[in-house]
Amino acid sequence: MANVTVIGAQWGDEGKGKIVDWLASRADAVVRFQGGHNAGHTLVIDGETYKLSLLPSGIVSGTMSMIGNGVVLDPWALRDEVQKLEGQGVTITDDNLAVADNCPLILPLHRDLDGLRETAAGSGKIGTTGRGIGPAYEDKVGRRAIRVCDLAHLDDLEPQLDRLCAHHDALRAGFDQPPVDRAGLLAELREIAPFVMRFAQPVWKRLKKVRKAGAKILFEGAQGVLLDVDHGTYPFVTSSNTVSGTAASGSGLGPGSTGFVLGIVKAYTTRVGSGPFPTELEDEIGQTLGEKGHEFGVVTGRKRRVGWFDAVIVRQSCAISGVTGIALTKIDVLDGFETVKICTGYRLRNNVIDYLPSHAGDQQLVEPIYEEMPGWEESTAGARSYADLPANAIKYIQRVQELIETPVALVSTSPERDDTILVRDPFLD
Ligand code: GDP
Ligand code: IMO
Ligand code: MG
Repeated sequence: MANVTVIGAQWGDEGKGKIVDWLASRADAVVRFQGGHNAGHTLVIDGETYKLSLLPSGIVSGTMSMIGNGVVLDPWALRDEVQKLEGQGVTITDDNLAVADNCPLILPLHRDLDGLRETAAGSGKIGTTGRGIGPAYEDKVGRRAIRVCDLAHLDDLEPQLDRLCAHHDALRAGFDQPPVDRAGLLAELREIAPFVMRFAQPVWKRLKKVRKAGAKILFEGAQGVLLDVDHGTYPFVTSSNTVSGTAASGSGLGPGSTGFVLGIVKAYTTRVGSGPFPTELEDEIGQTLGEKGHEFGVVTGRKRRVGWFDAVIVRQSCAISGVTGIALTKIDVLDGFETVKICTGYRLRNNVIDYLPSHAGDQQLVEPIYEEMPGWEESTAGARSYADLPANAIKYIQRVQELIETPVALVSTSPERDDTILVRDPFLD
C-alpha cells in the first residue's frame, strides 16, 4: 500500500506544511504522530495563508485528518485553532477530524513549568516555544499524564490529580510558585471536555479500518530530525522522537504501514532556538537569506538563524530516518547569489569527519568544510517543471542529491501549493 511519511530533515521549518497540503489531495487520510502546537506549518493556497500548529495540514484540503496518540494535545489550543480555521472558511467536524483518545494533555501547569525553567536557565535556555511540550511528555513517560479519554471521566479524576499535583507542587515550590489550583484546573477541564470529546476516538482503530479499505495514508511529522530527542543536537532538541519510525508508534499502525519516507529539506539551513549550528551565517549573506526566505517563526515570531546548506546533517537525517526521497524546498531563495556554498564535511580537532558527533561539546566545535558552486541569476520562483530551472540550479540540486545519497522526489519553488515540481510521485512508488 502506497502510504507516505513526511518528516523534516533539518531543524524544522523545512516546508513540511506546504508539501503535506500538496500531497493531501492524493491521500485519503492525514495523521499527525508526534509533537504538539510547538509546530508551525504554513500553507498558501491561491494567495490565502493558513497557519497550523496542531491540526494536520490535510484539514484545509478537506482530507480526513487525525491527531495520533504520539501528539501532546493542548485542548484549548485545539479549540482556538479550530475556531481560527473555521473563520477562514475551513469546515471542521467529527467527519474530517479525529483525535486519539490516548493522547496526553498539555495543561496550563505544563506551560508554567516550561516558562519557569527557561527563565531560570538564563543564557543556557533551550529556547523552547514555551508551549509546555517538554513537561507534558515528561508526565506521559512518568505515568502521571491526564489523557483525552480521561475527559469523559472527570468525576474519577481525583487520584490522578493527586499524583500529578504531588509532582508539580514540589517542582513549583522550587521556583517559589504556589501549588496547582486543583479546583480551577478541574473546572477548566470540565468546560473544555465536550469540545474535545466530539473528536475523540481510538485512532488506531480508525486507521485499521481505512487501511483495510485500501486508503492512502499520509503521516505528517513535525519539527525535524536534528530536533529529535535521541538523534538531534541534545539537549537542544524537542521532547519527542521526530524520526520516521515514530509515525507507526505515534499513530497506532505497524512499521510496515508507513510507506515512502519523504524527507523535507530546505535548500539552505535554518534553526530557531539555541544550540549548535555549524553552517550558521552571522554576516550579510545570512541576513539576505533570512530576509528573502522570510525566516521568522510561525509560532513565536522569533527570527530564525540562517546558514548554508549542510549536506552532513541531511545525509545523517536521511540515514537515520530511512528517507526514500526528499522534497527540496525554497530553492528560489537562493536565486541571485553569485556563488552558493554547501558544507560537505566537518573539521574537528584537526580531523575531517563526515558526520555530526553525538557529544554536545563536539557539536559546538565542528567547523564546516565548504564546496563552492556558481549561483544563478535567473528566477526559479514559481517554476513548475525542471525545464523552467536554470542550468546552475539543476546542478545545485544534483550535487545535493549526490552528497546526501538520496534522490529528489519534489522541488518547491514558492510558498504557493502548486508551485511544485514533481520528479517522482511518492504515492506511486
Ligand atoms: P514547516 O514547519 O516545515 O511546515 O515550515 P514553516 O511553514 O514553518 O516554514 C516554511 C516557510 O517557507 C513558510 O513560510 C512557507 O510558506 C514557506 N515556503 C515553503 N516552501 C517554499 C518555497 O519553495 N519557496 C519559498 N520562498 N517559500 C516556501
Ligand atoms: P515545525 O513543525 C522549528 C524548537 C524550539 C526549541 C526546541 C524545543 O514548525 O518544524 P519545544 O517547544 O519543542 O520544547 O522547543 O525545538 N522547535 C522547533 N523549531 N520548527 C518547529 O516545528 C519546532 N518545534 C520546536 O525552537 O529550539
Ligand atoms: Mg514550522
